[in-house]
Amino acid sequence: MRVAGAAVRKKREPAGVDETPDPNALLAWYDRHRRHLPWRSAPSERADPYHVWLSEIMLQQTTVKAVGPYYAKFLARWPDVQALAESPLDDVLRAWAGLGYYARARNLHACAKAVAGQHGGHFPDSEDALRTLPGIGGYTAAAITAIAFGRRAVAIDGNIERVIARLFAVEAQLPEAKSEIRARAETLVPVRRAGDFTQAMMDLGATICTPKKPACGICPWMSSCAARARGDAETFPRKAPKVEGRLRHGASFVVTRADGHVLVRTRPTKGLLGGMTEVPSTAWTHTFDEADVLAQAPMKANWRRLPGVVEHGFTHFPLQQVVYVARAQARTKAPPDMRWVALAELHGEALPNVMRKVVAHAGLGGRPK
Ligand code: ADE
Repeated sequence: MRVAGAAVRKKREPAGVDETPDPNALLAWYDRHRRHLPWRSAPSERADPYHVWLSEIMLQQTTVKAVGPYYAKFLARWPDVQALAESPLDDVLRAWAGLGYYARARNLHACAKAVAGQHGGHFPDSEDALRTLPGIGGYTAAAITAIAFGRRAVAIDGNIERVIARLFAVEAQLPEAKSEIRARAETLVPVRRAGDFTQAMMDLGATICTPKKPACGICPWMSSCAARARGDAETFPRKAPKVEGRLRHGASFVVTRADGHVLVRTRPTKGLLGGMTEVPSTAWTHTFDEADVLAQAPMKANWRRLPGVVEHGFTHFPLQQVVYVARAQARTKAPPDMRWVALAELHGEALPNVMRKVVAHAGLGGRPK
């Protein structure tokens, strides 16, 4: 764990509050009001590192609600890290389909292999060792260290960032404020129950110290919160105005064969949606000339452009996709690097949400997960 800046530790309570935040007050609140989540152990008990790791990877950029069914499915199918390591990557990608950010699934599998092959099937218990594993960055290493091994570590996610920024009325804007927020958080993490404390801060941020209309009146830290004392908790954390990604456009080609198959291909391993299945599609670009789009169709056919567009939001840009459909004769050969998939099996493919929307738009059923 990085050491807190001495200057920060020496500072007295922020103006308007008369006590420093007490970690025990938060832990007492957690014992009564914590969320009961499937990967959690009872208070003061250690959780299984495999459960903690799996949940933390799934929870990166994804809500607790969306993760729930995927977590249950993965655990039922791969009850331990060894089982996951022995499974083909394709099966993991297929099971992950719909959860988004697919690099996580590839890293999940690579990490399982590393733990099984290099660590005897046991996750290492230090932040530094955890960080050497695929898909485990600073936040996840700290979360696993604290939650699975009960060791003092500071994991700061968006919820915790907000709690700390308010507690100390951090005036700096994100992302510059991160170092101050980290230093402040380090002063609070207790030696005992570091994992419960981390999850207590997450729960406080998710249920009381919410982005809008925080419920300050029932907060266990109400009397030590600088932002509450000022009456402007909702304005923290300060943020630089967001720059939206520019809209991109593209086209997808959905060709169905008379014997009930649809043409698909696998995206390159590297890059956006790497290794996932798609119907043949153009690149997604800012400028897009529909006039010459059919030159990029996967085969000669009587292509028909469907009315409307499919919209999808990636993290870095919004996308509008037009969809062309065509029919092909039974047993038509697939072009190089493409394959026909039986319609009944399409939804078992590693189809990302954007492609689920495309095939639904083309009337092939199914909905984004
Ligand atoms: N988000 C990330 N990790 C979490 C956890 N352990 N509990 C609840 N929300 C989380």
